[in-house]
Order: sequence, then structure tokens, then C-alpha cells
Amino acid sequence: MSHSPLHEESTLNAERSPLPADAGPSADPPTLQLSAVSRTYRMGDADVHALRGVSLTVRPGEYVAVVGPSGCGKSTLLNLLGAVDRPTGGTVRIRGEDVGAMRDRDATAFRLRNVGFVFQRFYLMPTLTARENVELPMAEAGLRKVERRARALELLSYVGLAVRADHRPAQLSGGEQQRVAIARALANRPALLLADEPTGELDARTGAEIVALFDRLNGDGTTIVVVTHDEKLAHAARRMVRMADGRIVHDGMVQEGHA
Ligand SMILES: Nc1ncnc2c1ncn2[C@@H]1O[C@H](COP(=O)(O)OP(=O)(O)OP(=O)(O)O)[C@@H](O)[C@H]1O
Ligand SMILES: [Mg+2]
Repeated sequence: MSHSPLHEESTLNAERSPLPADAGPSADPPTLQLSAVSRTYRMGDADVHALRGVSLTVRPGEYVAVVGPSGCGKSTLLNLLGAVDRPTGGTVRIRGEDVGAMRDRDATAFRLRNVGFVFQRFYLMPTLTARENVELPMAEAGLRKVERRARALELLSYVGLAVRADHRPAQLSGGEQQRVAIARALANRPALLLADEPTGELDARTGAEIVALFDRLNGDGTTIVVVTHDEKLAHAARRMVRMADGRIVHDGMVQEGHA
């Protein structure tokens, strides 16, 4: 392919060159920067401490897997990384912007343009075709109809589903639905892709296709954070963050050849 549909040319180079560890003050801001983040849910008169002081920096072009036992705070963390939720304490910066301090309307607009989400259960609109599902976030962002149609087809072809553009979700396999959901997540050229158990509903072979697609996406410059119980997916990432009881207990590079 001569060009990738993921980024504008101007941002492509910036996204592609990973920063050296000692990058100076003129370097791009980290894609994600969390400082002492906590998230407490109030349940009646009890507090649930889902996150207890998480600090994390993710640089442009990184591919990070978040693992840990059920209930340790992974989805809570992902919602904060995507500006869907706000921290109870600490700060969350996405591309340098303090999203916890934004008004709701501004956070929604920021999320639409900067973050793509992929979920375990796909969440496609059942009455819309694959192409129309991919077009939705572009319509919300105000893109004209001809442009969003062309771009939706380009993205469906990127995920290998151009021939299924007119199928509705019920007329697609699980793996195909997830690929449509990934194309939708990429609609507005987000710098950051967040995924919560994206292979959780898929069999091993179909899951492996999603792992391969994420690999290609990251190779093409998209920063990825994926929550997963899937060992294959976790080991496809370059870096693994392990959580337990609302904290990060390990953060390191993934060793090649370890499973
Ligand atoms: N909206 C909420 N209100 C109250 N408590 C919540 C809420 N969401 C999550 N929790 C609690 O916060 C803790 C962390 O939940 P979270 O969903 O982040 O876990 P998780 O690591 O994603 O688990 P799983 O692997 O099962 O998806 C859990 O104890 C959960 O019960
Ligand atoms: Mg979860």
C-alpha cells in the first residue's frame, strides 16, 4: 500500500518516530501521562477504591498491554485513559491536555478526535451496515457525506472487509464485527487506540487475526493500550503493565519468545 489511511501526512512522521528516552523539552508531549491517579466509586455509604495512585507515561508509538486479575482496575484505568471518566485524585493528560479539568462537552469533543475505543462486545449499531457504522464518528465530527463514505471504504479495506461493506452486524462473523469496530475506532484518525478485551469473545484463530491487525496498526504509527487476559495479545505488545488491587505492580518491556 502506498499510503496508510490512519493519519494525515503531517502527523504521520511525528507519530512514527519514537522519542529517545532523554528527549528534550521541545519533544512532543507523551500520548498519555497519569500522575498519582486515584478513582474511588461511592456505593451507598461505602467507598470502592478502584485505583489507588497510578502513575504511567505512554509515548507516541508505544504498544502497551495492561494485565491483572478481575476487579484490579483495568477497565477503570482505560476509561480514564480515554477521557470517558474523570479521576477522583491526580491528573490525566492526553497529548499534553489535562482532560480531568475539561468541561464535559470539551472532553467529548477531545475524545472524538483523539481516541479510538474497541470493546469486547463490539457495540455496533445493529440497523446500520458496516460502512454506516464506520461513518458514524465521522458524521459526529462533521465530515461531509462523500468524504466519510470514501474514508469508511478505505478503512474497511484496511481491515480486509471492503467486500462486507453492505452487511449489517448480524450478517457478519464475530471476528468480522470486531474488525468493523476497529475500523470505526480509527474513523477520525485517533493518535491513541484503547481496547478492552478485544479478543474476549473470539475463538483462538479469529483472535489471532485481531492480534495481527493491532500489530499492523502499531507499525503504521498508532499508539495502542490494550487490556487483555489473552496471553497471545499481551505478548504481541512491546510493554506490559501488570496491575493488582488498583495499583501498577510491574511495568516492563515484553521479552521476545516468552509466553
Ligand atoms: N461504576 C462502578 N461503581 C462502583 N464500583 C465499580 C464501578 N466500576 C467498577 N467498580 C469496582 O471497581 C473495581 C475495579 O473494576 P474494573 O471494572 O476496573 O476491574 P477490571 O480489572 O476491569 O476487571 P475485569 O477483568 O473483570 O474486567 C472492582 O472492584 C469493581 O467492582
Ligand atoms: Mg474490565
